[in-house]
Amino acid sequence: MAINAHGGGILHFNEIKSGETYLPEANQEWGGTRVNLTGISCYSSQDLLNWKFRGNVLHSVEDNSEHDLYWENVAERPKVIFNAMTGMFVMWLHIDSMDYSKARVGVASSSSPIGPFDYLSSFRPNNQMARDLTVFVDDDDEATAYLLTSSEDNAVMHISQLSDDYLAVRTDLPFHRVFIGRYMEAPTLFKSQGFYYFIGSGCTAWEPNAARSAVAKSIDGPWRELGNPAIGPDSNNTFSSQSTFVLPMDGSNRQGRFIFMADRWVKDDLASSRYVWLHLSSTKIAQ
Ligand code: DGJ
Repeated sequence: MAINAHGGGILHFNEIKSGETYLPEANQEWGGTRVNLTGISCYSSQDLLNWKFRGNVLHSVEDNSEHDLYWENVAERPKVIFNAMTGMFVMWLHIDSMDYSKARVGVASSSSPIGPFDYLSSFRPNNQMARDLTVFVDDDDEATAYLLTSSEDNAVMHISQLSDDYLAVRTDLPFHRVFIGRYMEAPTLFKSQGFYYFIGSGCTAWEPNAARSAVAKSIDGPWRELGNPAIGPDSNNTFSSQSTFVLPMDGSNRQGRFIFMADRWVKDDLASSRYVWLHLSSTKIAQ
């Protein structure tokens, strides 16, 4: 899921979870239920209340078992960012095999925010495993973009800078290993009053757990963990949800008002999964 604010509207991309949920033999040990891959959907809104379905913008592939988007595979956590230099909308997503051993990122692009997106390729950034991911565009003059990936079997988060066109990872620059040994998934990144904030989850397949948060002055770190940003009843499992995106409510000013968006997964019926949207104040989580 990703958000792009253009012309007063919001775009929202989702993994389509439809059809029967089943547990493949290879995933029995860790409870990795799945639905067959259908594609990535897009919704648009001008007020966050009324949403218009814009269709399946990146379809699964039915007849080529070698293709990353073959129905037996996994395509999760799509994020779309706009590249002002090329005028293209670029989608990054987690591409995997049914048993999650492929551990790659995929890239797709479109000249229109509502697709259709052309699927370009998949790869392992810096030859490192990549599963849950997010992308983030900074507010510097160059609009530098970064990719965060759960790597090293999810034990370490990797932060890599993207190329100027946002279609590749800069392999001429070092990537950064952060939250070493902390096993974090579902990364989100946002900036408030000059500080970078991270919210993610622990690793418990589709089961919810306590969210994690962290702050840094530089995106490369050092990152200081701040603990669970959720407070009150059921905060220990993030209100039965898992982070997916943080939407700034102040546009590019990023003064501290955000919506924390999270998935409320239903592991035995993934198509019934819902969302949780919460007010988030960066001044509160930093205290
Ligand atoms: C947790 C991840 O955050 C989800 O995106 C998904 O990959 C599930 N694991 C699969 O069990």
